[in-house]
Formats: sequence, structure tokens, C-alpha cells
Amino acid sequence: MIERAVIEEVLARTDLPSLIGSYVTLKRAGTNLTGLCPFHSEKTPSFTVFTGSNSFYCFGCGAGGDAITFVRRMENLEYPDAIEVLAKRAGITVRHTVETAGGKKYDRRRFYDMNREAARFFHANLHKDTPNARAAMDYLREKRGLSAATITHFGLGYAPAEYGVFSDHMKSEGYTEQELIDGFLCGRSEKGRLYDAFRNRVMFPIIDLTGNIIAFGGRVMDDSLPKYKNSSDTPVFKKSRNLFALNFARTACAEQLILCEGYMDVIALHAAGFTNAVATLGTALTEEQARMISRYTKKVIISYDMDEAGRRAADRAVRMFSDVGVEVKLLKLQDAKDPDEYIKKFGADKFRRNLEESRTRFDYNFERILGAYDLNVPQEKVKALAGLCELISGFYSSAERDVYIATVAKKTEINPASIRRDVERLLAKQRKEYKTKENQKIRQSTAGLGDKINPDFVRNPSAARAEETVLGLMLMREELCSKATAPPYSLVQDDFFTAFGKKVFAFLTDGSENRQTDVNAVFSPEEVGRITQMRIRRMQLTENGENVFADSITILREAVAGQREKDAGITLKSLTDIINRRKDEQ
Ligand code: CTP
Ligand code: MN
Repeated sequence: MIERAVIEEVLARTDLPSLIGSYVTLKRAGTNLTGLCPFHSEKTPSFTVFTGSNSFYCFGCGAGGDAITFVRRMENLEYPDAIEVLAKRAGITVRHTVETAGGKKYDRRRFYDMNREAARFFHANLHKDTPNARAAMDYLREKRGLSAATITHFGLGYAPAEYGVFSDHMKSEGYTEQELIDGFLCGRSEKGRLYDAFRNRVMFPIIDLTGNIIAFGGRVMDDSLPKYKNSSDTPVFKKSRNLFALNFARTACAEQLILCEGYMDVIALHAAGFTNAVATLGTALTEEQARMISRYTKKVIISYDMDEAGRRAADRAVRMFSDVGVEVKLLKLQDAKDPDEYIKKFGADKFRRNLEESRTRFDYNFERILGAYDLNVPQEKVKALAGLCELISGFYSSAERDVYIATVAKKTEINPASIRRDVERLLAKQRKEYKTKENQKIRQSTAGLGDKINPDFVRNPSAARAEETVLGLMLMREELCSKATAPPYSLVQDDFFTAFGKKVFAFLTDGSENRQTDVNAVFSPEEVGRITQMRIRRMQLTENGENVFADSITILREAVAGQREKDAGITLKSLTDIINRRKDEQ
């Protein structure tokens, strides 16, 4: 947790117009500044910086918040990282306490410093003139074909083979055994002896988006197992939320990003000029990573290993990217097991041509299914067709489906009309399953008409609007936050209509913990935008003082009571239905 006082200081020492001004050209408009919104494309400025309240809001897309929100969105950073960026900019050192699984508290910086020292040690050790270090260097330079520049760029290193060399060094630098263990750089044997976690391995530092070293991967230099050893999760490292080399790729991947399986693939790609490549960290792609990637790029090219495991992982990843709305293509590499080997064998130009021709999901799976069955054997042809229909039914656009149906018909010499019937039967079945399973979800999202932040809003817009007025006024005038919970108002969470409104109210009135944290710690940047909107839209209302507040509370209570009656009516009706049905059955 970062102390509230530090956050206040960071915000106080950040001049919002000049921070935003370094990304957006701002023009003065009265007391405020306006410009073209950096979060959506527009031709006339609807993006406004409010100098009075040190906040920004876009009347076009609803982005809004304070300096922290701005950096979170603009630089795609998590909340603590955004604060760190702003603190660095303002020349403040942030103490950020994290807790280990064992309950020990640390300043986050301590882990970063420790890992940096470890990386420095491994890197220097790689350049030593000892037989082991020379073998490691030979492995990277000769066997893996890396240049000295690439080794330096990625900060690669070598962990000594002998026990204790590494930990002795770290201890001499002031790190305790417990710190080394908590950072997963060392372990403790059953007999209680400290041992170095990485020995006789070439080392790959994992770097986060603000340049901190957060973990390591280490590879053996022969065929022994395990081939890789990776840091476990620590308070500063979550495998499932980081990607290898995203720190480099972040600024090069807006158009397209290459996702591979291995560290070595990424390093080879970057060395060959494809600096938009990243890899997961020894695990399959997680939903969090897919979502993260979707914030950086429009298109992902998956370049996984050309084996069965890679294909299966790729299929899974394709689905995950479709779910987060990223265009995705699969790269098929002939005569090489992975991108690293491919580039080594055929060169960067050929890889680039491959990228340009990278196939769509349909082509890729079409060939895969055809390759798996012999179309001359009737039973196999039936199976292939079933797989192909299933594949086609996965495409949303009917025009696209028609194109693929024609392709399949031609290849299998089956009447397109009967393929279409099969596809449509599948689609109907899927729709039915989807309906029953996700009925709730669909209702919410279609009814919400894209209101992802507050899906309850449309269920009763007048109640929701009254709620937003109450909250907006509380946001405008802090003294209303304490007045709200006291008589005569005595507002409680249940007076609010939407789940989001309840959450905002709880945040504004919780005198104990929540108010210690700021809005960015509790809400996503999109939610902060919505909260900003509540405030901005009610700005002129405050002139009428507290009367408006009292009135909007009354309106809210009436609207919510009305809605409750309605809901209760529905429940009553469905109950009656059930009872009647029971009677019929008897
Ligand atoms: N991996 C791992 N632990 C293992 C094996 C693999 O964490 N025991 C992870 C590593 O992140 C590795 C990735 O899975 O980079 C891909 O594995 P693999 O294809 O076996 O390794 P490559 O990256 O191709 O490594 P190399 O080319 O050095 O064999
Ligand atoms: Mn591989």
C-alpha cells in the first residue's frame, strides 16, 4: 500500500496541464484547457482539463479523472506504477509497502534493488574469465547466436555453478537471508541451509513496464531438466500479469504484436528487428494477459511452437483474443520448430514475408483439419466435415461463413446447401446454449447498450440519474459526504439503486479505510471516468445549495421504492406461475 500522504504529495506536485500538455496540444478555453482527446479519435476537441479541480474529462468518450488516472490510461500502467511514474517525474521517492505470503512487510523498492543487484551480478559473472563463465558465454554467443549487444540489451547473465557464491555476494551487499528467500533468489534446505535458487544457468531478467527487474528465468546449457527455472510469484511479481519483453515491445506494438512461447524466441525476434514480440512467462496465456495485450495493440500474431502442444495453446489463445476483441492471426512456420530456429535457418526477411502472409483462423484450422483426416475414407470425411462445420459456425458474420462454406464445399465436393444446413443447425444449438447459460449476462449487456461500467443503469434510468445527482453533489462538495449519512438524510448503501452507485457511495462515506486510499486505488480508470462525469454534469447544480441535494435524495428514494415494488411484483407473478404450473401437473 502507498501512504495517502505520499499520493497527495505526488498529486500536489504534479501540474496537470503540463503533464497532459506533454501528450496533447491544449488550448485555453476560459479558465479551462481543451484539446483533442488522446483516448478516442475526434476532429473537434471535447477533451477538457479543469484547472480548478485538477481533473480532466472528455465529453466525447467519458474518459476522466486526475493525474494518476491519466497516466494509468495513457501509459497503460497499473495504479502503483502510475504513481511511481508521477513520483519520479516530481522527484519524490515513493515508499510502497508490500507483504509476503509469510506476512513480512517490505518496501517494494527493496525487492527491486535486490533484483537489480542480482542481475548486475549475473551479468558481470557472464563476462568473467573462468571456464564456466566462458562456457556460458559460448553457449549464448555461439550456440544461440546472440550478439554482445543483444546480451547487454536484455541484461542476460550467468548464475555460478558453485553453491553460495551468489548468496555471499548478495549478503555482502547488505541483503539478509530472509530477503533473499522472500525474493525467490535463494531457498532453504530441509536441514536449514541457505541455497542459491539459480545455479549454472544462463539468466533472463524479467523487467516490468517501469523498468524494474521483478523476476528471473534461468536456462540450463545442456539437455538436463528442468530446462527452465523461473521465479515464483512474489509481492512484486505475478507471472499471470506480466509478459517477457513488454517493456521493450510496449512502444512498438500498436499496429501488431507477436506473441511467442519462449524467451529465446522473443530475443531472437528483437535481435532481428521485430521489437514488437513478447512471450508469456512459462505459463499458458492468461485472461489478464490477453486483456493487457488488447490495450496495447489492434492485432496479435501468434507464433507458437510448431508442435501439438503449441497448436493447442494457440487455439486457446485465439479464442481468448477474440473474446477481448483483438484481431488475431496464426503464423505457420515451415521446417522449424519455433521462431528462434526459423530466423536462424531462414533469416529475418523470410520471417517478415511469413508475417505478411500470416493466415487467418479459418485457413489455419482448415488445413489442420484436412491434414488430420483422409477425405477418401467416407467415415473420415464425415468427421472432417463435422469439424469444418463447427469451425465455420464460430464466425459471426454470415458473409464470412458463406465464403468458407464455399471453400469447404469445393474441397470436399459436397453440396454447399447441405453444408449450410449443418452449420445453421450448429449455430441454432449454440445460440440456445448461449441463451440459457448466459441469459443474465446477455440481458445486462444488451439492455445496458454498452454501459459496461454501470450495467444496472438502464433498468431504471430515472432512479439511476437521481442516484448520480446525489453522488455528483457529494463529489462536488466534500462536506455533503459527512452530512449524507447523518439525519435528516441518513443515507445508507441500500438507498442507492445500482451496484456501482452503492460502491461509489461506500467509497465516499467510509471514514475509516477507503478514504485513506484515493479513488484510483478502488476504481478502474473507466470507472473513475464515470465518477468524474457524475461530478462534471452536476457542476452547475451546486449553486442551488443543499436544497437540490435534499430534493434529489427524495427523488432517489421514491424511484428506488417504485422499482422495488415492480421487482417484487415480478417475483410474485413468477411465483404464482410456478404454483399454477404445479397444479396443472398434479
Ligand atoms: N518453460 C518453462 N519451464 C520449462 C520449460 C519451458 O518455464 N521447464 C517456458 C519458458 O518460458 C520457455 C517457454 O516455456 O521460454 C517455451 O519452452 P520451450 O519451447 O521448451 O523453450 P524455448 O524457449 O524454445 O527454449 P530453447 O529454444 O532454449 O530450447
Ligand atoms: Mn520453443
